[in-house]
Amino acid sequence: MENKSLKNRNLKKRADVRAKDGDGWLYSDIVKDHFFNPRNFMRYDEEGKFLSNAMGRVGSPACGDEMVLWLKIDPKSEKITDCRWRTFGCGSAIASTSVMSEMIKEKGGMKLGEALKITPSNILKRLGGLPVRKVHCSVLGDKALQAAINDYFRKTKQYDRIITSGAKVIDKDLKITDHDIEEAVLEGAQTIEDVQKKLKVGIAKPDSKEAIEELIRFYWEKYFG
Ligand code: FES
Repeated sequence: MENKSLKNRNLKKRADVRAKDGDGWLYSDIVKDHFFNPRNFMRYDEEGKFLSNAMGRVGSPACGDEMVLWLKIDPKSEKITDCRWRTFGCGSAIASTSVMSEMIKEKGGMKLGEALKITPSNILKRLGGLPVRKVHCSVLGDKALQAAINDYFRKTKQYDRIITSGAKVIDKDLKITDHDIEEAVLEGAQTIEDVQKKLKVGIAKPDSKEAIEELIRFYWEKYFG
């Protein structure tokens, strides 16, 4: 009985993903358009010339793909006036982030407060949906946006505005989380000094140093060991 319902659930899941004839994936025209013509993609010839003041880098635990998002934030209005992104991700991640980049630039740019309210379901709605197994791909852009805004708060020393939900806080004063350390290691940090340099923060409290060093070892082993 249990096996039968499991089988039914799996069949239903597959039906959500595959077209009825079993050929091809069910993607909306909007998804296809953004996949083939991604908006605000960071071209290699633009790198270094696009003067951003915030950057977010995240990975997807579901598939191991990665996303980087760069933002230009006007400090006075707190509007996101421009952005670029790049991913080592699938077509759904490309389309989701492309549409999200349009959303945050609309009407002269979203304010940070509004941008933080964007959810993966807002992105999915704009895309006309995604196959069920691809929904996690829309989370990647959304997480990168939050990481980039946190990066901006950190760079401008607005530590009290940093959002740490879902992450483990390692240093309460500097709001350093395990995700921050993971990102710093992915960018090449090998020591606590490297991490502090990447995160542009001061000296961590002695009691958080040990935990930071342990996480550096853990992530270094995970990605490069
Ligand atoms: S499968 Fe990895 S981002 Fe879509």
